[in-house]
Order: sequence, then structure tokens, then C-alpha cells
Amino acid sequence: MNHETKIAIYPGSFDPLTNGHIDIIERALDIFDTVIVAVLHNPNKKSLFTMEERVEMINQSFNGQDNVLVDSFGGLLVDYAKMKKAVAIIRGMRALSDFESEFQMALMNRKLNKEVQSVFLMTGFRWIFTSSSIIKEAAQFGGEISDMVPEAVLVKMLEKYPNTK
Ligand code: PNS
Repeated sequence: MNHETKIAIYPGSFDPLTNGHIDIIERALDIFDTVIVAVLHNPNKKSLFTMEERVEMINQSFNGQDNVLVDSFGGLLVDYAKMKKAVAIIRGMRALSDFESEFQMALMNRKLNKEVQSVFLMTGFRWIFTSSSIIKEAAQFGGEISDMVPEAVLVKMLEKYPNTK
């Protein structure tokens, strides 16, 4: 990778990856050369999928795309971003309700490291209501989620919730 390469980190829980996340990654690739999708390792947060499963589902969804890298991280996001020589942290913005917590996190990240910029991208209208948690809830009760997640995620969701479609 040369010095001109602009790397962005797209951090999150990705439990699991949704089409909304994919939309944000594609938008980020219009601006940055490489996007590192970084899955947070958080032992305090209960997740449906293991870290390995979450990383694998993202890898399968971007199979062969060399400008999307998938990794996991623990500790402070800004430290991880610095280690990866990233210039920006990407966060998706769906609605006003996302703003307050995102604003607080971005300001804290800036206080911790002034050199990494937070970049907020608006998700496509189609995905404005999607989130990993609402998709999990719908799947749990047999709702159809097939148009909201990539194929690799749907397969794994069907293993957990055979009644979903
Ligand atoms: O998908 P999520 O759960 O909304 O992602 C939240 C995430 C991973 C971006 C955030 O929890 C995070 O960055 N955690 C790492 C610890 C950290 O650096 N926190 C922010 C400043 S204290």
C-alpha cells in the first residue's frame, strides 16, 4: 500500500451484517481507497453470532473485493485506527435518533485522537429502518428478512431461526 492510499475504518458490532451496512461500505468506497470493516470484540455485550461467524459472513459478502478488508478489534477504536494508518472512521446515519449518540462518540474519539476524522454517511432510503437488532427480532418470530441481509447472512440466520424467510 502506498502513501497515497486513503484507508477508512468502518467499525461496529455487525451482529449480523445487513444490507444497510453494505450500502454504507459501498458509499465509503466512493471516497476512500480501502475500507476496513472492523468488528468490535466486546466480551460484555451478548451477541447472536460469534466473532468468527460475524467476520466470516462479512468476508463471504465481499468475496474477492480487495478494497474491503475484514478484521476484528478490541480496546479503543482510535488506537486501532492509528495502528491501521486510517484517516477516517465511517459511521452510518439513519435518522435523527442516531445523531446524539454518534455525535458524542465522535467528539470523544476526536478528543482521544485529533488526527482521525469521523465521517458520517447517510444510508440509502431503502435501509433507513434496518438495524441488526430489528432484523434479528423479525427473524426470531418468523418474519421475512431475505431482502434486508446478504445471502451469507440469510443462510446463517436460517440456522438460528428456521422459521424465518
Ligand atoms: O455497531 P455498534 O455497536 O453501534 O458499534 C459501536 C462501536 C464499535 C463503533 C463502538 O462501541 C466503539 O468504537 N467501541 C470501541 C471502544 C471505543 O473506542 N469507544 C468510543 C470512545 S470511548
